[in-house]
Amino acid sequence: MTTNDSHDSIRAVQWQGDRLRLLDQRRLPAEEIWFDCVNSNDVTRAIRDLAVRGAPAIGIAAAWGVVLAAQKGEDLVTAMATLRAARPTAVNLMWALDRMNRGVVAGADAAALETEAQAIQDEDLAANRHMGELGASLIEAGSHVLTHCNTGSLATAGYGTALGVIRAGVAMGNIEQVYAGETRPWQQGARLTMWELVRDGIPAKLIADSAASHLMKDGKVKWVIVGADRIAANGDTANKIGTYQLAIAARHHGVKFMVVAPSTTVDMATATGADIEIELRDATELLSIGGTRTVIEGADAWNPVFDVTPADLIDAIVTERGVILKPDEDQMRILFP
Ligand code: MRU
Repeated sequence: MTTNDSHDSIRAVQWQGDRLRLLDQRRLPAEEIWFDCVNSNDVTRAIRDLAVRGAPAIGIAAAWGVVLAAQKGEDLVTAMATLRAARPTAVNLMWALDRMNRGVVAGADAAALETEAQAIQDEDLAANRHMGELGASLIEAGSHVLTHCNTGSLATAGYGTALGVIRAGVAMGNIEQVYAGETRPWQQGARLTMWELVRDGIPAKLIADSAASHLMKDGKVKWVIVGADRIAANGDTANKIGTYQLAIAARHHGVKFMVVAPSTTVDMATATGADIEIELRDATELLSIGGTRTVIEGADAWNPVFDVTPADLIDAIVTERGVILKPDEDQMRILFP
């Protein structure tokens, strides 16, 4: 156990041999309930309805969905197509299914596919630990930082991407205080990131999303640290809605902006952020809070759940292959030829 492990106690995606157990993120923090998937349709539903969420975690869950499909004798082509359509923005989902499909095409049986899914999960955890160290070493001692959405153990195989940098930064003494934006409408920051940070003993304060510019103007944070759902070939980055406005505010106030994501989030086949499909979710997510309607009946809403931050607003992209400072197409191609 390294020092960093003392701030890392959660594993939300657990393979049980004949079922996939997911810590149900719709219910946290009120209830810690496990959702059991016994076939690939259960996994598709869990991804679509956000029982499991976060780019790396949905890729890992989908890989286990293929294993379940093979174990249960489902039609694998149909199962993989259904899993692929569960959510459109995070490329980790497509990446994981492409990798599993290579096994299927080569004639792998359920046991061999199980080995492959386990490798995808293990590699994600290893990447997160490595990115944690790389990202945290960019941060000067005693810094306060702001994060958005949830990029932690809940969103990955464990440890987290942006939250992994925060875990490592706290362990190294480089991060003294974390601010987490609540992340309306689904409140990943308020419900999930605060749950992880409090459980793992990391000093954290929740802010309303609308308080972020004020926080930066007050000089309270040195870095904004976020994850990604897809990074295009030119470094443009899709992440949770609200990330783009944080990047604009950060640049205006001289605050540094870091994106942390494994290579499985990089999509060199997508030229720019304009080519990334942004998921639109049901208006009801915005018209209610915690299941209680807060807006007049009859009202409509527009609910895009991701946005694109242009590469020129990003100071550093941290991947397990290395750090790209001031990302652009040329810099990206060096690490991702
Ligand atoms: O809609 P979500 O909760 O799946 O969105 C998650 C995010 O936007 C995360 O920031 C991103 O997936 C990186 S998670 C390591």
